[in-house]
Amino acid sequence: MWTECDGMGEWCDFPAGKRPSIPVSLPGAHAPWPPVWEGRAMTSAADLVTARLRLRAPEPADVAAYHRLWTSADVRRHLGGPVAADRLPAYERSLATTPHLFSVVTADDGVMIGSVVIDPGSRFEARRELSYQFLPEHWGRGYAREAVRALLAWAFTAVPSPDPSIIAVTQVANTRSRGLLESLGMRRVETFEEFGEPQAMYALTAPDLRG
Ligand SMILES: CC(C)(COP(=O)(O)OP(=O)(O)OC[C@H]1O[C@@H](n2cnc3c(N)ncnc32)[C@H](O)[C@@H]1OP(=O)(O)O)[C@@H](O)C(=O)NCCC(=O)NCCS
Repeated sequence: MWTECDGMGEWCDFPAGKRPSIPVSLPGAHAPWPPVWEGRAMTSAADLVTARLRLRAPEPADVAAYHRLWTSADVRRHLGGPVAADRLPAYERSLATTPHLFSVVTADDGVMIGSVVIDPGSRFEARRELSYQFLPEHWGRGYAREAVRALLAWAFTAVPSPDPSIIAVTQVANTRSRGLLESLGMRRVETFEEFGEPQAMYALTAPDLRG
């Protein structure tokens, strides 16, 4: 259970009643975790389990792995480059306020390997939009596909939308990302230029999600 251990925004985990040696600092002193929005947690309360993985709401101990995701040149190659240091606090705060954001951890040892999210009302006509990022040392093992598939299967019913499809937008040059989307049955529905790069929009409806 997470609890505020010093009243100043330091969050501590007390499994089996033990105080950890290094409390993790999270943004928003005195904010409840997960944050509450209109009576519901903004981060997903859902806990999704696959053969090898667990998808759960971000926890304070995940912050270091998120920093690696945000500052890795490999992860950010097709996402506009590493996040600048002065923007990292805002990114940290977003962990506590982004709906349907999941940390992806290994089921056996709980190591965080990446993150997946469904934006319930994207800038693309408020359609549900999927995004994902994994740490490079975990690429090439099918973890992203396994996690994203579980997220999509869950989101089609758990994240309501008037549009039956879920979309994803990725740079055309991001061949790994496009391969992942296509392997799940997503179809390319549009190509456009943004941030000086050709972007591909993919869409999927529930019956077309591949196993
Ligand atoms: C996009 C990204 C998630 C893809 O990661 P990935 O590990 O290549 O994706 P997958 O989970 O589909 O894995 C596929 C690979 O795992 C291999 N694999 C190994 N075991 C597997 C298994 N049990 N099941 C499926 N695939 C398996 C596949 O053969 C394939 O290998 P290949 O890359 O040599 O062809 C990753 O590159 C990333 O995080 N990029 C940075 C962030 C980003 O660009 N996000 C997109 C914008 S939303």
